[in-house]
Amino acid sequence: MTEVSHTPRVFSGIQPTGNLHLGNYLGALKRFVDSQEEGISSIFCMVDLHAITVWQEPQDLRHATRELAAGFIASGIDPTKSILFNQSQVPEHTQMAWVFNCVARMGWMKRMTQFKDKAGKNAENASLGLFGYPALMAADILVYHATHVPVGEDQKQHLELTQEIARKFNHDYETEFFPITKPVIEGAATRVMSLRDGSKKMSKSDPSDMSRINLTDDADTIARKIRKAKTDPEPLPDSVEGLENRPEARNLVNIYAALADSTAEAVIADHAGQQFGTFKPSLADLAVAKLAPISEEMARLMQDKAEIDGILKNGADRARAIAAPILKKTYQIVGMVGA
Ligand code: TYM
Repeated sequence: MTEVSHTPRVFSGIQPTGNLHLGNYLGALKRFVDSQEEGISSIFCMVDLHAITVWQEPQDLRHATRELAAGFIASGIDPTKSILFNQSQVPEHTQMAWVFNCVARMGWMKRMTQFKDKAGKNAENASLGLFGYPALMAADILVYHATHVPVGEDQKQHLELTQEIARKFNHDYETEFFPITKPVIEGAATRVMSLRDGSKKMSKSDPSDMSRINLTDDADTIARKIRKAKTDPEPLPDSVEGLENRPEARNLVNIYAALADSTAEAVIADHAGQQFGTFKPSLADLAVAKLAPISEEMARLMQDKAEIDGILKNGADRARAIAAPILKKTYQIVGMVGA
């Protein structure tokens, strides 16, 4: 039936739920910039519809969406090269999500560990949107026929589900219409851990602000958080194998490597035998050098909200121009009259 050649296209999204942090930067934003610079057609989305799967104060959501847009731009996303927009301005995402709600199986959704984590003990009281979250995520990606999705490690299961949805749709409708999207989980910091507990992921929802470096933190705050980061009493080992069973040490080495565009091996080679009293100040200097300009630029951009809103509107128009024909074709395949 429908044969489509899938040209490379990158898509990724971030939830505008406040506290954009170092994990989001190293696991996602920084790598988005890499794909943009490689010249691959790239689409980046503030997933505001995903955000409301758990309660958001309306004024906080508006602020967080604009601040996230400022974070993308300050990190190096050029809205004239890449497409930058918020999800709710492109209705094709939710239209495609409905089709995928009818492709995905209850059993697949029930296996999603993020749903289990977020819904907690009281799953009966979670929103239906939280349960269906990964089908909307599949729609985000497949409504652009995206072929590559750069993310942190925590999104791997959702991307495998996206592949399952594409496969089942293609199989049921006897088509090759949807690409089988590749998760791109690469680099030294695909899972940045909490600065207070090396067994927990750095996250926006951690009650301790000392557990994460926010992209809005100033230079002094960044340096203080690194100085106070939990570590063990041993010096750095002389090989990465020596970091096994030392989660806090490994996390700081990985953060250093990712910030320096290097590898854990190279960082260990340069700092073998150092005490944390020496290593932490070097890491703090590096983090401040890389992150402080981003937080300053975010603050500057946030002074002109109309400019940000204009960028998002322009991005949404360009995104719709790609999504609308793919949705139309999907409706035709499914058998909708008028499509
Ligand atoms: P979100 O908003 O939780 O996180 C955004 C991106 O940051 C990465 N990330 C991390 N990477 C390394 N270490 C960490 N500690 C860390 N914490 C977060 C995430 O892996 C992600 O890449 N469901 C997605 C948003 C989404 C999406 C999409 C992503 C919606 N539709 C389509 C890709 C494609 C989420 O909640 O990410």
